[in-house]
Amino acid sequence: MSNETTAPPLAHVDTAQINPHQPTADALVLFGATGDLAKRKLFPALYHLQHSGSLDVAVIGVARSDWSADDFRAHARESIKNHVDNADLSVIDALCDRLDLVQGNYADESTWNDLKSMLDKHDSEVAVYYMAIPPSLFPMVAEKLASVDLHHRGRIVVEKPFGRDYASAVELNKTLHSIFPEDHIFRIDHYLGKEAVEDVLVFRFANTLLEPVWNRNYVRSVQVTMSEEIGVEGRGSFYDSVGAIRDVFQNHLLQVIALLAMEPPAGADSGFLQDEKAKVFAAMRPMDCNALVRGQYVGYRDEPGVTDGTEVETFAAARLEIDSWRWAGVPWYVRVGKALEQDATEVVIELRDPPRMLFDEAGGPPPGRNLIRLRLGKNDGVTFALQAKTPGPNMDSEEIDVNVDFAAALGERQDAYERLLDDALQGSLRRFARQDVVEGTWRIVQPALDNGGTIHPYFRGSWGPTEADSILVNDDTWYPVSPT
Ligand code: NDP
Ligand code: BG6
Repeated sequence: MSNETTAPPLAHVDTAQINPHQPTADALVLFGATGDLAKRKLFPALYHLQHSGSLDVAVIGVARSDWSADDFRAHARESIKNHVDNADLSVIDALCDRLDLVQGNYADESTWNDLKSMLDKHDSEVAVYYMAIPPSLFPMVAEKLASVDLHHRGRIVVEKPFGRDYASAVELNKTLHSIFPEDHIFRIDHYLGKEAVEDVLVFRFANTLLEPVWNRNYVRSVQVTMSEEIGVEGRGSFYDSVGAIRDVFQNHLLQVIALLAMEPPAGADSGFLQDEKAKVFAAMRPMDCNALVRGQYVGYRDEPGVTDGTEVETFAAARLEIDSWRWAGVPWYVRVGKALEQDATEVVIELRDPPRMLFDEAGGPPPGRNLIRLRLGKNDGVTFALQAKTPGPNMDSEEIDVNVDFAAALGERQDAYERLLDDALQGSLRRFARQDVVEGTWRIVQPALDNGGTIHPYFRGSWGPTEADSILVNDDTWYPVSPT
């Protein structure tokens, strides 16, 4: 795989066989109910669904931990109080009334029979089985569900990363397909549930202003940054088994890049959208390891759960190229990392210089280029960096920012997990990933997994190793991200 530069045929997906709208579920089964994802994201999301009146199902946790149903409810209550500002206690009570627990080891047949009895107790016919568990357990849980015939009574939500590399993603898909049809496999990537990420599509295709310049004729480079101030924060053991490339680059970042780079879909239907994403990855070159820099923050090796002398990256910067009619020759610079200076998920589209600089009577440094900044994180919005006349007698220009903060202009957005859980319960595949697209993303990062090269140390609170500059071409520099 590593030296392959041309795209292999992507997994055949018979889109006619995919029904994007499934029957509404009547139960949510949460594998990994005691875990970090459940605590920080899933219980708060369930709280919001309960609050808005959209939750109408039993929520059944499955845990190996020696918990009673009351322990489980107390844990959910605590998680919500810690992660939802001013949570309404009556809403928490109503949610806790829905919670039930199956306790047992996944290896024991009795656990699966207990789960079946629990679903019967709640008169469930269509369940959503949410795998908030270590990815190595996905195939086993799917097989165990089938062993007690529960696969006919529901659909699965599979967390990311879907596989560890191209081959294992294909293999995992094969296992899941031997049990569930494609339209019962919901591959979750919570970035696809973020309204700010969905807005990339609306922004590009609901405005006529941008599309004429959204190509190699006007765009000089694209920079995508996903930086986090936090380190691995108690997730050392999980993180050390994946690293930044598998944790966020292969999934969140490449999904965002697909939305930025794709052609207009033939229609709003999710199948058309997935088709266009698959084409982006077919046209994208697999990562060139000479244009990749991996880093690790100083102190990472002392984090609990991390192996001695680990070479796993907590930072990656790469230059990607898309050999499409629209993007050929435009460098796409991508950087992701933990323990960096500032939280940001930001895209900077840098436009080319105008053909002549007419307004420079006072001399001095040349004006900056036009930038379109898409902020996709907490402070989501858009900023156009434009040139306007400098006050005074001279015809000179200076940079001004035309800025919109989406929360202020449009109101607060829903949380991604709230939307995705609701979609899964309603049976809508719209915001989930299709297998050929997932395989396309693994094909792009595979060279980095095979031979990622040296790991460069960097200090917490920096912008990663200075070696990251080496992937820049054409005298480019990293643009600072927007201040928060
Ligand atoms: P955790 O390490 O917190 O584990 C989740 C739960 O899995 C554990 O609490 C454990 O519960 C259960 N589990 C079952 N069998 C095993 C086993 N053999 N080894 C370890 N744990 C087991 O993981 P996260 O909650 O962080 O992640 C779960 C999934 O969600 C992963 O796929 C991850 O990639 C994904 N994810 C996580 C995010 C996060 O911020 N945490 C964000 C986005 C995705 P018990 O023992 O009680 O059954
Ligand atoms: C998760 C990763 O998928 O995304 C985490 O496992 C990362 O390591 C998180 O912190 C970032 O998500 P968000 O929504 O906070 O940008």
